[in-house]
Amino acid sequence: MAGAGQGLFISLEGIDGAGKSTQSRLLAAHLRALGRDVVETREPGGAVGAEDIRKLLVEGDPDRWSPETEILLFSAARRDHMERTITPALDRGAVVICDRFADSTRVYQGAARGDLRGLVDDIHARVIGVEPDLTLILDMDPSLALARGLARKSGEDRFEDMGLPFQEKLRAGFLDLARAFPERCVIIDAMQPPEDIARNIARVVEARL
Ligand code: TYD
Repeated sequence: MAGAGQGLFISLEGIDGAGKSTQSRLLAAHLRALGRDVVETREPGGAVGAEDIRKLLVEGDPDRWSPETEILLFSAARRDHMERTITPALDRGAVVICDRFADSTRVYQGAARGDLRGLVDDIHARVIGVEPDLTLILDMDPSLALARGLARKSGEDRFEDMGLPFQEKLRAGFLDLARAFPERCVIIDAMQPPEDIARNIARVVEARL
């Protein structure tokens, strides 16, 4: 995969219900008001084929796929998303705001089966090979986030349905990742009012523009 181009690649990460999609929207509006070309996108999905793969992943029984199969499906969706949406946008100098990226695979599929992290990293290196310039990790108490996530009843609740202990593992996984990649990861306290979170995020992003 080609390099990350001239734009700025931002990913938002966090457990289910942490408020990523709201913050993604607010950040995009803020950057557009500053005159930036902004592409808002999400994973799994963000391109026509990748959205088809998304349906296979987020709907249905929690044990519908083995962790290995999941890693392959997420990676296939990500490759399509990179080719068709992210790389072209970065090449023309846009800011890409991506709701979840490879860190979600490291943490979610790694949390389900810790010994698969090597497989995730190998596949990433071979077929994706790009990291965001900046990763915002929205951190919050899983019981609060889970209540919000399930309240949405979107029909895409396969991962939320894995329960509170799973979400607690995920939170710890994201915090570990922030420690492992301190140059690109910033932890955002997501238990404040949305407008305060948005202000924090805007400050962090503007420093990188
Ligand atoms: P998302 O649409 O971000 O859900 P939410 O808005 O509830 O956070 O992501 C769908 C689900 O897919 C979510 O539970 C996280 C999971 N996921 C993985 O397990 N691995 C991945 O690589 C990605 C991108 C998502």
